[in-house]
Amino acid sequence: MEDGIGTPTGIVVRLHGAFRGITRRKFIAGASVTLASSALGGQSRGSALASDRHRPRFHLMPPAAWLNDPNGPLYWKGRYHLFYQYSPVISNFGLKYWAHAVSSDLVHWKNLGIALAPTPEGPDKNGCWSGSAVIHNGVPTIVYTGATWAEESEHAAREKGLVPERQMVAIAADPNDPNLVKWVKVRENPVLATPPAGIKAVGWRDPSLWKEGDTWFMAIGSGEIGKGGMALLYSSRDLRHWTYLHPLAVAKPDPTVDLSRPWASMWECPDFFLLEGKPVLLVAGGNRYLTGTYSNHRFEEASGGQIDYGSAAYAQKTMQDEKRRRIWWAWLQEKRSPEAQAAAGWAGVMSLPRLLTLQSDGSVGVEPVSELNGLRRGSQRISNRIIAPNGPLLLEHFQSDSAEIEVEIELRDSHQAGLRVRATADGSEQTLIGYDRDSQQIFCDTTSSSTDPDTAKVPRPLSGRGIQGGPLSIGKNELLRLRIYIDASVIEIFANGRASLSDRVYPGSVASLGIGLFAKGGSAHLRSLTLWNLAPVSDDRLTSGAELFQV
Ligand code: FRU
Repeated sequence: MEDGIGTPTGIVVRLHGAFRGITRRKFIAGASVTLASSALGGQSRGSALASDRHRPRFHLMPPAAWLNDPNGPLYWKGRYHLFYQYSPVISNFGLKYWAHAVSSDLVHWKNLGIALAPTPEGPDKNGCWSGSAVIHNGVPTIVYTGATWAEESEHAAREKGLVPERQMVAIAADPNDPNLVKWVKVRENPVLATPPAGIKAVGWRDPSLWKEGDTWFMAIGSGEIGKGGMALLYSSRDLRHWTYLHPLAVAKPDPTVDLSRPWASMWECPDFFLLEGKPVLLVAGGNRYLTGTYSNHRFEEASGGQIDYGSAAYAQKTMQDEKRRRIWWAWLQEKRSPEAQAAAGWAGVMSLPRLLTLQSDGSVGVEPVSELNGLRRGSQRISNRIIAPNGPLLLEHFQSDSAEIEVEIELRDSHQAGLRVRATADGSEQTLIGYDRDSQQIFCDTTSSSTDPDTAKVPRPLSGRGIQGGPLSIGKNELLRLRIYIDASVIEIFANGRASLSDRVYPGSVASLGIGLFAKGGSAHLRSLTLWNLAPVSDDRLTSGAELFQV
């Protein structure tokens, strides 16, 4: 995410242009908990959020306030646990907690509230940042990054090779509690207090863990100014005592990245795993994945791509579940102004769970997990139609802002073909999702998604208006196969099991519910289109349980 706004801390701050120049530390000091209580305060706030038409119905999010990265996904005794970065203030500068949600099917989540809170005067006093969860000797265990700002200036601290991050461990207080509600920080904390000697780290956070034999391995996101991102590798037998080995991986030189900028010189949220035996390293920036070789505990990048082409998605994180599936989540950021986010009282949504697959050419494919089909209710279907460039704007009787749409299109003579969603009858608001044959790109065009002037306020890369896309090569005899999830302001697009793109839209009109087909430069042919209305995962847009988030 090279367009991010850097802070002196090296944290990439996306979107919050209004706070440019303010450090996270100063912001935390200034933002009192009263903001938190106003974000969560009272029933009327809750009911306003429950009827907010931009707030999703089948995506995970806290009852109010702020969500960022997915953390520590874990499968334990028949339940999925998913944690996420939570702040009571609507800002990426807010004090961060680990919030916790549980599900038995990956789709219906119950918010359990705060699992980890910063300990005043503790090594995580300025935030419980991202990390992982594993089972060690039968005990669910979280390894995360604690933030401790130096008393001196950030700059002075970094010059001395000091970073604000510490690595921390917490264990489930009662492994027999099916909800794992209570977590206890271990007395050995911080289990790592400084980055390895000799590395002038711009940051040192977001541990990713895996086990080989009896040994735990941990990759920590880091990087050096002028060199770029790296993942530092450690090993341990007990998760409390760690030995630094060497970098697991370092970024390949990339002339397009300005490595004088701290935030461009760091890999946030590394996630390392084997996908059907093939080593894969995810890094947050650009939702990139790297594939290559892993030997002698060193990863050598050979190839790569992007799991999600949209700038809304960030901080991707995976787990392997009991079916040995590799499941992926990301934070879906807002694409409206900080003022609009504050007025709404909530910001940030967890992506839908996605399945990563290894493609025959060695690339990584992505598709929605099959459990999502359980949300399908009534359906409508049409088939065998010509999609002409001057065809009707909308399909009659197809309207929704809470749906899954599956469409199969023969591209034929068209240069572009696809679907129009969240559209008004006259097209004054509409979002285009399609395929561009000339550039071989899948795209989402939000140029006309909203007439609300607020959506034009945010600069790239999180602008609420514009075209985003990425490569997808569709064979001569292959259909364009799109699966699209529309959930209020969230759009998640899957193409041919090989590409995904997330976006956010905030139509100004309540009537922007129409769905249509489009082709440009020639006609395409619709094989079939099925729309399922999707059931909400709660009856109040997940706004209940706010009291569990009181801090
Ligand atoms: C990524 C990130 C992580 C950090 C967390 C703090 O969005 O900056 O590197 O641990 O957010 O909330």
